[in-house]
Amino acid sequence: MTTPTGQRRAITAPSIRARKGQEPLVMVTAYDAPSARVVDDAGVDMILVGDSLAMVVLGYDNTLQVTTDDMAHHVAAVARTKPHALIVGDLPWMSYHVSREETVRNAATLVRAGAGAVKLEGGRKRLDAIGAILDSEIPVMGHLGLTPQSVHAIGGYKVQGKQLDAARTIVDDAIALAEAGCFALVLECVPDGVARMVTDAIDIPTIGIGAGRHCDGQVLVYHDLLGLEDRKLPRFVRRYADIKGESTMAVAMFCDDVRAGSFPSSEETYHMTDQMPSELHLYSGDDAYARNIEVPG
Ligand code: KIV
Repeated sequence: MTTPTGQRRAITAPSIRARKGQEPLVMVTAYDAPSARVVDDAGVDMILVGDSLAMVVLGYDNTLQVTTDDMAHHVAAVARTKPHALIVGDLPWMSYHVSREETVRNAATLVRAGAGAVKLEGGRKRLDAIGAILDSEIPVMGHLGLTPQSVHAIGGYKVQGKQLDAARTIVDDAIALAEAGCFALVLECVPDGVARMVTDAIDIPTIGIGAGRHCDGQVLVYHDLLGLEDRKLPRFVRRYADIKGESTMAVAMFCDDVRAGSFPSSEETYHMTDQMPSELHLYSGDDAYARNIEVPG
């Protein structure tokens, strides 16, 4: 979407909500300025500063270790790039579980850092938290299915909603979240039939990850999509590049060049000017390189 002066219009939560059933929405995670520039230049609709940060950037084994301040630090880095895409800040575990007051304060911290919306995990038991955030005029994205912040309660990272009862719970939770006023909903690791039932049952966009193609949009984690890591990936990830392999190769080439003495070259070096004392000419420029002269310390 462009403004009358030809500039791209910033994407907002209401504009995402209004795109239900239209061209599929695209969301990709980003956690810092370079990754935000990459995904925004590529044309995503939403940048999720996800709490997957804990695992793919900070090296933790699960998402439970990050705090609101950690999230705000990374939301701010993404926001400094002034992306066209909507920035969605993920509320971390325990930031919306204790009280309405704390919930609102934490959501506001992410908005002050630059998020245009926040995301939180869980169904009907989170309605109070969702209501409190919406009352503070902050758009909320829901997250159902596999909710990684519940890893201990669920007993691992497993596909959710495979049985009829569990599928019904997800659909009912989705209806409740949509009715509460969420502008969109992430559906993670559910069978495609469940994703389809949810997508048909609610009037807000569903954004799938491991939820098949019957969603209103798709989201992937930046590091998975680009192959920035070579850990074993879930089956729903399509890897579009091998950046880890390419990066390792590039750094190995740098190691070789330094050890072989071929880096830096004369062109990659600053040389002294003609005004320097004549005895220093000896130590400067291509001649010095050719003679491999050591500059006195
Ligand atoms: O934190 C995250 O990256 C997420 C996505 C998997 C949806 O919540």
